[in-house]
Amino acid sequence: MYTIAIQPDDVPLLSGRRQSFSTRWLELAQASGHDVRIVNVYDEEHFFSEINGCDAFMWAFWNAPKSRELGKRMMAALYHANTLITFPDWRTSWFFEDKISQRYLMEAGNIPMPKTWVFWSRQDAIDFLNGTQYPVVLKLAFGIGSDNVCLIHNVEEGEYWVSKLFGEGLTSLKIREPRPILREIAARGRDAAKTILGIAPPEYSLEPDIQRGRILFQEFIPDNTHDLRILVIGNRAFGFRRMNRPGDFRASGSGLIDWNPQEIDEASIRLALSTAKKLGQQVITFDILDRNHKPYIVEMSYYFETPTAYQCPGHWVLDDHVAEAQQLQWIEGKMKAEDAVFIDLINEIKMKKSAHA
Ligand SMILES: Nc1ncnc2c1ncn2[C@@H]1O[C@H](COP(=O)(O)OP(=O)(O)O)[C@@H](O)[C@H]1O
Ligand SMILES: [Mg+2]
Repeated sequence: MYTIAIQPDDVPLLSGRRQSFSTRWLELAQASGHDVRIVNVYDEEHFFSEINGCDAFMWAFWNAPKSRELGKRMMAALYHANTLITFPDWRTSWFFEDKISQRYLMEAGNIPMPKTWVFWSRQDAIDFLNGTQYPVVLKLAFGIGSDNVCLIHNVEEGEYWVSKLFGEGLTSLKIREPRPILREIAARGRDAAKTILGIAPPEYSLEPDIQRGRILFQEFIPDNTHDLRILVIGNRAFGFRRMNRPGDFRASGSGLIDWNPQEIDEASIRLALSTAKKLGQQVITFDILDRNHKPYIVEMSYYFETPTAYQCPGHWVLDDHVAEAQQLQWIEGKMKAEDAVFIDLINEIKMKKSAHA
């Protein structure tokens, strides 16, 4: 039996629901007789003594800056200190919510993605805009639900964003219309009243830090009515399609989901499984687009919405991800992603212990 440190998580989803990996992990750990220590990663005084002697530390940190900015650093520190296993581990989490890192990782790892350019100077970005084909996709490094992904149709539009990103910087590509003054005053009044009543503001803000001094463009892949979301946990692959928002090229955040496994092509499942293995990922989701019947990855992330994944009627398993000849095996039945993560983590601890024995 092992001792597992768990950081509680309770996250508001885009759909308005909440999700918590830790609640389920706690249940599973207790049901199988493991010791659990509920820890507080934000507690400067006690966190390291709390995890001292534990076999593993689990924390499903999410996209909000307060969560991921600490999560990524903590998992990197614990990986390099090499005293306990973590979920997610450093390899799984270092590029989370960072499409710039993902661009370098995918090219270095020879993973198919649409052609992507990152520029670190205004002049390089302007030169690119003057020579490229339109439309071209512009993305910030972070953002969910397509918030920070847009199409650029001509040089002038591109120059507008270049001037922002190499000027005061941006937190979002959504252009916010200023609120009419009366509504602004009313909104402030409501905020003040809430403070007086002791209603706390939302604990997390997705309003991220300013991004500036860099810009990412990506080749536009036309004619996709949806993207494919393939979630890999260990050697399992779950998949569904996300249809585009009406009248829009973007699928992420549309909430229009199709879980029919017949609609998911085998090449995408195999690409997801082999890429997860190549990159040594505990868990990874891929957003995949199609060009001429070949899959291209546009985003990778270890964090995902569990209720959506749970609606998959089954999943595929490939025991040896590399052997092309190997058949994908379909396992019928729903599975909680939190359970798959937990099972794999216990196995990882077991393997580490037996290697050291
Ligand atoms: N290069 C591209 N060409 C065409 N459509 C794209 C491209 N990149 C992303 N998209 C569409 O935009 C959506 C959001 O892009 P993505 O990079 O996954 O950002 P997010 O972090 O918001 O999910 C995707 O779900 C996909 O439908
Ligand atoms: Mg995405």
